[in-house]
Amino acid sequence: MDKLKNYGIILASGTGSRYNTDIPKQFVKIAGKTVMEHTIEVFEAAADIDEIILVINPDYRHIAEDLLLKNNYKKITKLLNGGDTRKESSYIAISSIEDVEANVLIHDCARPFLSQRIINDCVEALKTYNAVDVAIPSADTIVKVKDKVIYSIPNRAELQRGQTPQCFKLSLIKKAHELSRNDGNFTDDCGLIVKYDLSDVYVVDGEGENIKITYPEDIFMADRLFQLRSVLCPDEQSLNGIKDKVIVIFGGTSGIGKCIEDLALECGAKVFSASTRTGCDITSFDSVCKFLENVNSQCGKIDYVINSAGILKMGKLLERDIEDIKNDINVNYIGSINVVKASIPYLQKTKGAVLLFASSSYTRGRALYSTYSSTKAGIVNLSQALAEELAADDIRINVINPERTATPMRFKAFGKEPEGSLLQPEVVAEASLKTLLTNLTGQVIDVRRKAK
Ligand code: CTP
Ligand code: MG
Repeated sequence: MDKLKNYGIILASGTGSRYNTDIPKQFVKIAGKTVMEHTIEVFEAAADIDEIILVINPDYRHIAEDLLLKNNYKKITKLLNGGDTRKESSYIAISSIEDVEANVLIHDCARPFLSQRIINDCVEALKTYNAVDVAIPSADTIVKVKDKVIYSIPNRAELQRGQTPQCFKLSLIKKAHELSRNDGNFTDDCGLIVKYDLSDVYVVDGEGENIKITYPEDIFMADRLFQLRSVLCPDEQSLNGIKDKVIVIFGGTSGIGKCIEDLALECGAKVFSASTRTGCDITSFDSVCKFLENVNSQCGKIDYVINSAGILKMGKLLERDIEDIKNDINVNYIGSINVVKASIPYLQKTKGAVLLFASSSYTRGRALYSTYSSTKAGIVNLSQALAEELAADDIRINVINPERTATPMRFKAFGKEPEGSLLQPEVVAEASLKTLLTNLTGQVIDVRRKAK
């Protein structure tokens, strides 16, 4: 049999009555985009998903159409009007598919944090099973209550919380819906399979982050999750695309920057390293402009720009010299602004990408690191904002967030640390070049030690 097509079905036809705003929750904005756009993007980015069917509420069709026009998605092939219940909306979507057989992944639009890992695992599981659910163990004890009194406490070890996507062979889920045409209201498609005992339903591990935005307070949590979200560098990304690229690395004469240079050269790129040693001062916008102009006149283009220059100095704010502090901020923060601003005109021509560097301390300030970690927090925020500004030019910008890495900067600050407790800069270099080649933008990419 030919490979079955994988359809992502996004159910967005609810009215969000529990969320209780003028506009249904799928159109509320988080981190600059509506919940619906975030969810669509996950399916757009999933290599295994061939087509997306979006089910929307006819009363809000105009909003959905505007969003589709604005975003130019590649995989959405159907925009359907949903029904009065979730079950009805899901039936409308599956009925619209004409293939004799296919895989369908039915997902709540209100779960924008769905990960690529879950989609991959579901598609993989559908090779063996005809029905697949996504669920996580319940940390809380679940109790059965009637009239405010517990009447039963089921064994927690057997209880899991169901999420989505719920995934099926098309013929199976069609059959389930047909059996239930005149039969009660189910909130979920796996429920039908279980009720009519049509198949085993395999369970893929869900994730705590895969929350369904349901109540108003969920949006605050969602906002934080987006802010702090990091992704892992896609390991499977090949480095072939680096060949013949023109790469400029600021801070490239030592540490992580030097490692990136070595690896990029090995992969056949043209690399230009800028640092104070080569006469470029990233705290000066003019100096950065001159360096880039020079590279561009030699090569005729610039594809990627990396800024790994940084200063790590510790100490109590009260005890540190103010000029020294200003210098930290100039190098770590203003330096990145100079680099990005000066690079944009070149990257507009190549649809290129920028990489900046954070540190794990960016999520929370710590004593003695006040200036260092706050500049790193600034860099993450900066890149999120610029990813939005630069999207129209097809320029991508991401932040690499390495764990503690064995670099001269770290050695200078902390002396010798236990062998094996630090990340090797070569691992960071590989993740950095891979990130430049992906479609990611506005992301924090965590780089961790490889499991031995
Ligand atoms: N959904 C749908 N069609 C419906 C009802 C729900 O497509 N008639 C979708 C919702 O848009 C949502 C998902 O199913 O993405 C999960 O449903 P739920 O969280 O219950 O959303 P709402 O029904 O919109 O919210 P509420 O129950 O609070 O009204
Ligand atoms: Mg509902």
